[in-house]
Order: sequence, then C-alpha cells, then structure tokens
Amino acid sequence: MTDSARSELWSALDGVVDPELRRPITELDMVTGAELEEGVARIGVQLTIEGCPMRGTIEDDVRQAVGRVPGVREVRVEISYMDAEARRRLRDRLGHTKTNPFADPANLTRVYAIASGKGGVGKSTVTVNLAASLAASGLSVGIVDADVHGFSVPGLLGITQPPTKVEDMILPPVVEVPPERRRPDAGSAGSEPDAGSIRVISIGMFLPDNRPVAWRGPMLHRALEQFLTDVHFGDLDVLLLDLPPGTGDIAISMSQLVPSAGLVVVSTPQHAAVDIAERAGTMSLQTGQEVVGVVENMAAMTMPDGSLLEMFGSGGGRLLAERLSRSTERDVPLLGSVPLDPALREGGDAGVPVVWSAPGSPSAEALEDIAESLRRRGRGLAGRPLPVTLT
Ligand SMILES: Nc1ncnc2c1ncn2[C@@H]1O[C@H](COP(=O)(O)OP(=O)(O)O)[C@@H](O)[C@H]1O
Ligand SMILES: [Mg+2]
Repeated sequence: MTDSARSELWSALDGVVDPELRRPITELDMVTGAELEEGVARIGVQLTIEGCPMRGTIEDDVRQAVGRVPGVREVRVEISYMDAEARRRLRDRLGHTKTNPFADPANLTRVYAIASGKGGVGKSTVTVNLAASLAASGLSVGIVDADVHGFSVPGLLGITQPPTKVEDMILPPVVEVPPERRRPDAGSAGSEPDAGSIRVISIGMFLPDNRPVAWRGPMLHRALEQFLTDVHFGDLDVLLLDLPPGTGDIAISMSQLVPSAGLVVVSTPQHAAVDIAERAGTMSLQTGQEVVGVVENMAAMTMPDGSLLEMFGSGGGRLLAERLSRSTERDVPLLGSVPLDPALREGGDAGVPVVWSAPGSPSAEALEDIAESLRRRGRGLAGRPLPVTLT
C-alpha cells in the first residue's frame, strides 16, 4: 500500500465519530489497523466493550467513510475489543476523574433543577423540551432523570439504548438534534464535538424490566451521587435535573450534591396547586439555592372557534411567582406559560420533544421562549449566589 493510500484511509477514518464519546475513532485509539490491497480495505476497529450497543453504527460509518476513498471496492471491518489497560487509557484520555464535577464551585456548567409540588404537572415534558431547544441552539446539554419512582425521560426522548460501562465510567446515551432542527446560528457541528447533543442518564436505565424502586433515602443519595461521579457527561453547557415531585429525600440530596443548581418550579394554573408548588420553591430557603423562575404548564388552550379552554383555571403561574418572590425576597419571574396542546402529548408519546416535532405549535413556541430566557443567563459563574457556609 502506498503512503498516500494509507493517509487517505486514515483521514477517512478521522471522519468517523464514536456516537457515545463524540470524538473521532482515530483520536480514541479505536482504529487498530488500516490496509488496502487490490481494492479491499481491511479496517481493524477495537470497541470499548463486548456487546457494545454502538457496534452496528460504528461498523456502518466505517464502511461508508472508507468506501468513499478512491480505489476501494470493498471494506472489511474487523472488530476486536479493548483490554482493561486500553479502557483505562481511554478513560484517562477523556479526562474522567471519579469526582462530581458539578460540586466544584469553579465548574461553568449551568445546572437547573426542575421541581414541582405534585406529579403529572408536566415537569419531565418541560425538562426534555428545554433540553431539546437548548441543544438545537448548539449547546451541549445533559439530563439527569432523578425521578426515581416515576422516571420518564428516556421514553420522552425515544431512548432505548442502555448506557455503556467502561471500567468505572458510564457513557450515557446521546440524543442528537435532528439536522433540520439545528438553528442556523448554532455554529458548525464538528468544531465543538458535544455541541447540539443531549446526554441522558436515568435511574430507569439501571432497572431490569421496569421494576418499581423501593429504595430508601441513603441508597437514593448514593445512586444520585454515582450518577454525578461515574457518568461521563463531558463538558456540558447546561445540566437539567428532573426531580421527583415534592420536597423529599431526592430534592434534598440533589441540593447537597449540586449546590449551584437553580430551581425552576413547574405548576399548573390552578390556584389550589400553587400552595403545594410553593413549598417546592421555598425549600430553597433551607438549601440556599436560587429560584430561577416559574413555568406554568397546562394553561388555557385556544379552541378552533377562538374561545379559550381553561381546563386548569388561570393565573396560578403568576400567583406562584409573586408568592415565591415574597418568600425568598428575590425577584422570581414567571418564565412562561405553556398551553395545553395535543401536539405536546403526541410528541411525548412518540419520543420526540414538541419543539422538534411541531415547532410552530403553541406549546413549542412557549417552551422556546422559556429556553431563551435560560440561554440568556449564559454559562459561567456570573449571577450565581455565593455559597453560604454556616459555622
Ligand atoms: N401542556 C400540555 N398539554 C398537553 N399535555 C401535556 C402538557 N404538559 C404535559 N402533558 C402531558 O401530561 C402528562 C404528564 O406530564 P409529565 O411531563 O410526565 O409530568 P410530570 O413529570 O410532572 O409527572 C404527560 O402525558 C404529558 O404528555
Ligand atoms: Mg416526570
């Protein structure tokens, strides 16, 4: 094989990106050999673990990329697996340290905990749509589905693939923004390998057969801590935490594990629901977290005849924002009001967030506005409350 043929094979392989790690496979030491003889290219690829769920995708991508090299008639992909030493090198190369990066005060990821008083108000729906909108604008987004008893994020994003374990590192499944939903101002994909993607970890991914969880507080704390230390999220711009409803163990654990997380409180417009939602918000007084704002969900829907259907009443979101502003003595804005919308439920059932599946729909527009207000808060330390230490 000539040197130029070799370099053409390798530069074709540079274009193959590991779907979980989002780096070229050449950079990850996953290519063990590349030979071209009489039109037949033999490419050795070593995967992280046996039974790697991404095997088919990587094989196809290698076949396609190498198949485009002039003079290649046939591509044979020879798969092998990394040994423990190679996996450790990979982990080190990714800079994975067994610490919770989000507890570091110097970490630049913006963390938002999506909270609610009660279940069924649309917390998970809001979480995945905010993630989808933020990712479409080119941000690198993570979601921790911490609703141990009611995890639903994988379903809402159509994820069926489990995480991959590489030594003590867990690689979460990645959801990519559909190309047609990528905002034109999002910057070119490829320059920032994690831009425009959502990495998701859910307790549901660790439970065989959807078995219900009967874990006690300390076990849950440990599980959440492990999510934050063992899962390789990469350098995230935004991390969203889908909390279980109420002010229980998990919400408290999360506030300890990620003290910089700002709370976004979701409620329906119903005044009777506001009292319960307020408690989820005023928990911040004990935990020292900032209440970023209120999202009203299931607000009035405009009917075909132009009339308004107020299924759950009206005004709850504004009332909640006012009450939380008073009790926390800070300005807690109403970030937006998302109407009841069949498109939103349909998107959820199909595993595609409505901001991607029906971008012009009333709910998608409201969710985009809310995401925009989070985007404006940017990334970094500015505007964050200083950590309070009680001695
Ligand atoms: N604005 C809305 N319009 C129509 N259906 C909605 C809306 N918000 C949520 N839903 C539906 O309500 C149900 C509960 O939402 P979900 O996000 O799972 O709530 P939570 O996470 O608070 O328990 C889901 O079936 C979802 O599709
Ligand atoms: Mg939920």
